[in-house]
Amino acid sequence: IIRSLSVRAAKTAAVNNVTVIGCGFMGSGIAQNSAQVGYHVTLVDQSEERLNKSMNDIREGLVAVANKKFKTEPTRCETFIQGVMSNISVSTNTIDAVTNADMIVEAIYENMSVKKKLFTELNNADIKKSAVFASNTSSLSVGEMASVTGFPEKIGGLHFFCPVPVMKIVELVTHNMISQRTVDILMEFCTKLGKEIVKCKDTPGFIVNRLMVPYMLEACRMAERGDASFKDIDTAMKLGAGYKIGPFELADYIGLEVMEYVINSFHDSYPSDPLFRKSDLVHKLVCDGKLGRKTGEGFYKYNK
Ligand code: NAI
Repeated sequence: IIRSLSVRAAKTAAVNNVTVIGCGFMGSGIAQNSAQVGYHVTLVDQSEERLNKSMNDIREGLVAVANKKFKTEPTRCETFIQGVMSNISVSTNTIDAVTNADMIVEAIYENMSVKKKLFTELNNADIKKSAVFASNTSSLSVGEMASVTGFPEKIGGLHFFCPVPVMKIVELVTHNMISQRTVDILMEFCTKLGKEIVKCKDTPGFIVNRLMVPYMLEACRMAERGDASFKDIDTAMKLGAGYKIGPFELADYIGLEVMEYVINSFHDSYPSDPLFRKSDLVHKLVCDGKLGRKTGEGFYKYNK
């Protein structure tokens, strides 16, 4: 019994320090969620400006959480926010920032060569032997990224959903080189973050996007043909199919350039499958800089 207890203690003690590389939309959410449950988080990006923006976004996110939690008690709100913020430090130096990490989460651009470059750099970093790695990719092969490292068994996919602190699900992506220990630690990490874990093999789009992308593309084709408006399609799917958010609202929320990248990578994987035919409408909006909520316009217009 003592042995099994100590093994369990060792397992749960495996992760204290979390380094999140890339402090965009997803990285900021992963950092906030991790800091909220008590991990020491180091957030890494290429510039101070991005890190400052991310810290402001995280603070705003925490204000919303605190207002919900401690409505009438401003002092408790502030203590909560300060407490979580003090769990987060920032860095523009990836190699330094991973030295003490037990868990390293990659949330940089959705581009295989950019991700491979980062993992190749990590080969030369002084990283704890016990550390494990996760990629938050939404469409790329985790095994392919892992193959450029000398430690593919320590790398898995953790596909979080946005907004990370709110969404209760994560897809845990395994490939044929991952070790059981890595899977166990990734599961413990996600459980502590309060997530429901679904496991999936390293296949294009994993579970949710493999089903969602054809659906979103069909919604675009429907609007392009003039069969129905964005608003009516969104309303129909919310009230008729019980979805919480319609396809165009979701696309604007995710970011149309992210959506286009995901469509393109499905198209590359299944070039002759009509389900993944590219969308001229999405491409035009991206070319016009209309990326969704973040730029004030996508399928819909927003007040900035
Ligand atoms: P984003 O564009 O908002 O943020 C990416 C960040 O990574 C930027 O701040 C950029 O400066 C930084 N970055 C790029 N290369 C870097 C490097 N070498 N070192 C340090 N920082 C670097 O992107 P977003 O939306 O946060 O996506 C990140 C990842 O999460 C992608 O793989 C994406 O597919 C995935 N994802 C995105 C979702 C979404 O709804 N946006 C949902 C689930 C996963």
